[in-house]
Amino acid sequence: MAVKAKILLMLSVSSTMLFFLLEFSNKLSFSVITYQLNIYKQNSCSCEKCLSEDKMFQFHHMNHSVKPFLTAKSELSEEDYAWWKNIQRERGDYSTYKATVKELFEIFPAEPDYEKPRSDRCRTCAVVGNSANLLKSHYGPLIDSQDIVIRINYGKVKGYEEDVGSKTTHRVMYPESSSRLDNTTHLVLFAFKIKDLQWLKKAFLTGFFGRSYTSTKSTIKANKDLVMVVNPALMKHAHVVWLKKKGVYPSTGFMTLILALHMCDEVHVFGFGADSDGNWSHYFEVLRNKKFKTGIHPGQQEFAVIEELANQKTIKFYRGY
Ligand code: C5P
Repeated sequence: MAVKAKILLMLSVSSTMLFFLLEFSNKLSFSVITYQLNIYKQNSCSCEKCLSEDKMFQFHHMNHSVKPFLTAKSELSEEDYAWWKNIQRERGDYSTYKATVKELFEIFPAEPDYEKPRSDRCRTCAVVGNSANLLKSHYGPLIDSQDIVIRINYGKVKGYEEDVGSKTTHRVMYPESSSRLDNTTHLVLFAFKIKDLQWLKKAFLTGFFGRSYTSTKSTIKANKDLVMVVNPALMKHAHVVWLKKKGVYPSTGFMTLILALHMCDEVHVFGFGADSDGNWSHYFEVLRNKKFKTGIHPGQQEFAVIEELANQKTIKFYRGY
């Protein structure tokens, strides 16, 4: 009997100890998580989750050392230049590229004008692709509620406000897809060859009269103080790392999405996705070339990456109507 009582006593003491131990470890791990969340909140941004934070969230393809925009001080490596010069068969050499970039910053801002991460700010962005799936989507107010709204090429606003919104803070373009901008919209240039960099300068100053694979506007109307030029190293990063070198090179829309991951804390993605025949049809026009599909760009691979990012909750992806 005495032995039984001892065993019972020992059991109850050890289970009480176990209970307190578990309780303590629960509290400990809870406070560690809270502490980590606080660090993350203090260090990065005020959103629920911050893309700019690389201590807490290690996205396997996020590389904050790749700078999104060219600056007067940035240097493109020869290796990155070698990738870039191949995409549209540039014949100019590395030194010509460097001299052209240097000239650009004599007239455009030496540092691009965009807000850097801050612990008390949540920089939300809408990346608006040109997919026909935006029609009847009623995404307009949701798009307009983001701080930054990035539109691409000819993505129209007038007449489509209910579905695509009316705000445009940034418009991405290249010479062959250029359009006139108002005084408050940032012109974000994707350059695919040295001539594109020369176009930027000439279109603002003297007029550009060179030739390209299609007609190119000789002048541009935009605020030159809001011009930003995407770093070719980021374009290469999108192709080599994110798309594993699939396709000839990434679409402007896909590279814009990668750009947004580098300049926003929260990214909302609209207007991406082919139609049921696999074509990249637009919300603002009837598809003419039904054989285009996604052209030289790896449309399926790009879409798979977008879906993966959405599944990981790295971005919010709105699939349209
Ligand atoms: O056709 P455009 O290049 O102007 O469209 C902008 C971007 O939107 C494309 O580069 C592509 O990434 C995306 N897009 C899409 N699905 C469509 C049309 C465009 O994903 N149906």
